[in-house]
Amino acid sequence: MKEISDIRKDFPILSRKVYDKPLVYFDNGATTQKPRCVIDTVDEVLTTYNSNIHRGIHALSDKASEEYEKAREEVRAFINAGKTEEIVFTSGTTGSINAVAFSFGERYIGRDDEIIVSNLEHHANIVPWQMMCERKNAKLRVIPINDNGEVLFDEYLKLLSKKTKLVAITQASNALGTILPVKEIIRAAHSMNIPVLVDGAQGIQHGIVDVSDLDADFYVFSGHKIYGPTGIGVLYGKEKWLTEMPPYQGGGDMVENVTFEKTTYNVLPFKFEAGTMNFPAAIGLAAALRYVTLIGRENIRERENELLQYATSRLLQIDGLKIYGNIEDKISIISFLLKDIHMYDTGMILDKLGVAVRTGTHCAQPVMDRFGISGTVRVSMCFYNTKEEIDVLAAGIEKVKSMFA
Ligand code: ALA
Repeated sequence: MKEISDIRKDFPILSRKVYDKPLVYFDNGATTQKPRCVIDTVDEVLTTYNSNIHRGIHALSDKASEEYEKAREEVRAFINAGKTEEIVFTSGTTGSINAVAFSFGERYIGRDDEIIVSNLEHHANIVPWQMMCERKNAKLRVIPINDNGEVLFDEYLKLLSKKTKLVAITQASNALGTILPVKEIIRAAHSMNIPVLVDGAQGIQHGIVDVSDLDADFYVFSGHKIYGPTGIGVLYGKEKWLTEMPPYQGGGDMVENVTFEKTTYNVLPFKFEAGTMNFPAAIGLAAALRYVTLIGRENIRERENELLQYATSRLLQIDGLKIYGNIEDKISIISFLLKDIHMYDTGMILDKLGVAVRTGTHCAQPVMDRFGISGTVRVSMCFYNTKEEIDVLAAGIEKVKSMFA
């Protein structure tokens, strides 16, 4: 693996200061910073061949279309999907889940059918299903979690029934860091012919994702959480489903033939890509995936685990600090509260020390409700973070405590 000092130089923003203090960026769960190669790639698209894709016969459009389709192929290879036809570009994880909720819902969901989610889901993997349930008079069922923040597998098995039409589950909790046993969840659902959507928003950037090995029916993620640009996401869907599902948006490029009497749709994946897509971001995402591959996904996992272990032991030494989500198998996220100190006070003081953390429900209110709290302070680390930064965080937390003593 590259030296950490060299890795940090790849990310221009990491050398900036905040309030005259070196930036310590621990909000990677919300969005990750961008390496120079991604910034340069997007810059190159916009300065040298910006032109609408799939529409022109001129050189610029040809080049933009070619790079966009190459990006699709790189995404396919990165997640080990079978075919590029199964890779749909969207605006992000939220866009991808809404697309499936609408499109799958239109095709397969009827009155009293059930969708299963877990108590650990982000709002983006709850609300679109609730909206679908309202439209279709269907029901949302929820897998409970225990005090450590793990899903109760036996309860999940009890929820599966003939009424279940889809399981939608996160690969890892953005609020607590819990990694879910997604493969086992999929296997159990498939034994009853139930498809599974995996929300990979917090999974893909922390290690290996292989949709073929998982046998996921749908896998969704955002570009900006894996060092790529914002405004681009991916919906992987097995060809069988995407072929049968109707498009969720109408417009240019998703059609084959349009008359006022009848419109026929384009082939996969274009059927699901209406209007001008965010091609500079898609091409930038491919650059991000190449960068992650260069660093090495196993190396990333190993380094982030090391940071997680170090940060956990450092933070647990702090009197009155309680961590939510206490299991071994976690992504590099620590959610905590300080006794008698409001999370926003903690977050605001840390900010003044140059340390960026997230405070609140993390768009996962049901997780907070489960623990009877209104939110947490969340430290989300990634491979470009350092143990020295964790020391700065720990000293900052001690300072917060001393100010409220
Ligand atoms: N879903 C993002 C987070 O967890 C925004 O912070």
